[in-house]
Amino acid sequence: DRTPLIAGNWKMNMDHTQGIALLQKLAWTLKDAKHDFSRVEVAVFPPFTDLRSVQSVVEGDGLQVRYGAQDLSDQDSGAYTGDVSGQFLAKLGCTYALVGHSERRAIHEESDETCRDKVRAAIRHGLTPVLCVGEGLEERQAGNHVSYTLEQLRGSLAELSEGELEGLVVAYEPVWAIGTGEVAGPEDAQEMCHAIRDELTSLHSKGFSDATRILYGGSVKSSNVAAILSGADVDGALVGGASLDAEEFAKIARFE
Ligand code: 13P
Repeated sequence: DRTPLIAGNWKMNMDHTQGIALLQKLAWTLKDAKHDFSRVEVAVFPPFTDLRSVQSVVEGDGLQVRYGAQDLSDQDSGAYTGDVSGQFLAKLGCTYALVGHSERRAIHEESDETCRDKVRAAIRHGLTPVLCVGEGLEERQAGNHVSYTLEQLRGSLAELSEGELEGLVVAYEPVWAIGTGEVAGPEDAQEMCHAIRDELTSLHSKGFSDATRILYGGSVKSSNVAAILSGADVDGALVGGASLDAEEFAKIARFE
C-alpha cells in the first residue's frame, strides 16, 4: 500500500535562519500531535541555501521529517555556473528532488526533455524524483487537460525503465490552481491522478503504477485537504503557501 506523502514546497521563501525556525516549529507541532510518520510521511523542500541547516537540524534532533531540493542540474559536475548537482544534494541527506515544477517549466523554459534528463540525474545520485506535471488554464478550458498532462508525463519519463523509476513520485499540479486560491475539485484531482496512474500502467506495468505515489498540488489547505485526498488515486499533497505556516502544515499532515 502507498504511504501518503505530505510535502511542503517552500519555493523562494525562508532564508536559512527562518528555515531552521520553521522546521523546528513543525517538528514540535507534529510531536505534540503524536504524528505517526510511518502512516503519513512528511517532507519539506527548502531553498538550496537552507539545505545544510536543515540537514543539521534533522540529524541533530533525530527528526523523521524528510527533505529534498526544489530542482537539480541534469549534469554531475563541471562548468555549469549557478547549477547544483544531485551529487551535492545527496551528500546533504536529501531524499527527494522536485523536477519540472511548473514555475521551472514556465520561468526557466524547462522542456519535457530537460525534465527527463533531470529525473535521470536524480536517480543516478540516489535521489527520488518528484516529477511535476499539470495543465494551464488554457488547456483546462479547452478540455485538453488530460492529454496535455499525460504528454508531459510521457515526455518527462521517456526512455527510463521501470527499474530505474522505482520509488518515483508524480505531482499533479494544475497551473491555474497554484497560488491562486483556486483549488481543483476533488473529482478533478482524482480524475487526473487516475489518468496518470493508468498511463504509468501502459508505460510500464500495473505493479509499477500501483506502487507509484501521485500527489495533488495547488492551493491545498487544512480546510480542503481531506476532500482532495479522499480520491482513491490521490496519495498526498504538494503544498506551497500553506507549508510556510508550521501549524497549518502540521494540520494538513493530519488530513483525516
Ligand atoms: P500553492 O499551494 O501555494 O498553491 O502552491 C502549490 C505548488 O506549486 C506546490 O509546489
